[in-house]
Amino acid sequence: MDQDAPFNSHRRQHEPTCLPGTRVDLLQDIDNWADGEDPQPIFWLHGLVGTGKSTIARTVARRYFDQNQLGASFFFSQSTKTVENFVTSIAFQLAENVPALRPHIADTISQYGDIATMSLRDQWRILILDPLSKLQLNSQHAPFILIVDALDECEDSDIQTILDMLTKDRLLTLNKLRIFIASRPQILIQYGISHLDSSYYTSFDLHRIPRSIVDYDITIFLEHSLKGMKEDYSLDSRWPGEENIKSMVQKSQAYLSGLQLPAISCAKEGSNLQSKDSMLF
Ligand SMILES: Nc1ncnc2c1ncn2[C@@H]1O[C@H](COP(=O)(O)OP(=O)(O)OP(=O)(O)O)[C@@H](O)[C@H]1O
Ligand SMILES: [Mg+2]
Repeated sequence: MDQDAPFNSHRRQHEPTCLPGTRVDLLQDIDNWADGEDPQPIFWLHGLVGTGKSTIARTVARRYFDQNQLGASFFFSQSTKTVENFVTSIAFQLAENVPALRPHIADTISQYGDIATMSLRDQWRILILDPLSKLQLNSQHAPFILIVDALDECEDSDIQTILDMLTKDRLLTLNKLRIFIASRPQILIQYGISHLDSSYYTSFDLHRIPRSIVDYDITIFLEHSLKGMKEDYSLDSRWPGEENIKSMVQKSQAYLSGLQLPAISCAKEGSNLQSKDSMLF
């Protein structure tokens, strides 16, 4: 079990979810997919560095955890990039989150005492595929969701193994698990997913979002962040003003299709700034 990998692990507790009012359409698309409106069992969200993938993945994880539909989540990161515990961690969470699956997972563990030392592929078959195929879900029951973020952080050989496991026909035809993968468009992942049968996956490129929607989200983000700064620094109530916000949104266009705003982080660190507007630019 990798204690840091689940979205709500102790180490990740301060990592943010989407600010209310942002990513509205995309989150709705993901909800529709998760609730079974789209038949494809895999949703691949991709975008370049800092475009907000992990924030969206956390938001989805939180929402489905709260409604008892999250099967498991595994967030890779610089510090959680090892894959040894990938399968055991997912099995452990599935056993916790899906009570009907628990006895099947417990059975296999009692049969294979040395499971943690087996290859990941064997672990996957024994701990995940076999128990899931025994799970009886009432036909009305929505599938459980598995969320995997930042697969691109792993070594190439591990990416390959994990993709092979996640895209097994035997898993995808079960209709009991929906798999949400968020990553940079790393070549192996892109190749691995785009070569699947189109009935198995749907994908979303964060760069495809129209500029006007990105600008709207950035405006919400800026207003929220600068409100906090205004309070921290006891600034004039009219600060920063609509024009300054517009100008920052415009400047941010050079950087992103997400909400990573270098200006904000610089400003937050600038405790000895001379003028209040120098905090913005
Ligand atoms: N919808 C949002 N609401 C509030 N903040 C956001 C939102 N989306 C992104 N951010 C902020 O933007 C920054 C970058 O987002 P995030 O870490 O999710 O990007 P990423 O695409 O996962 O990047 P990487 O490719 O490096 O993993 C974070 O600081 C995050 O808090
Ligand atoms: Mg990320």
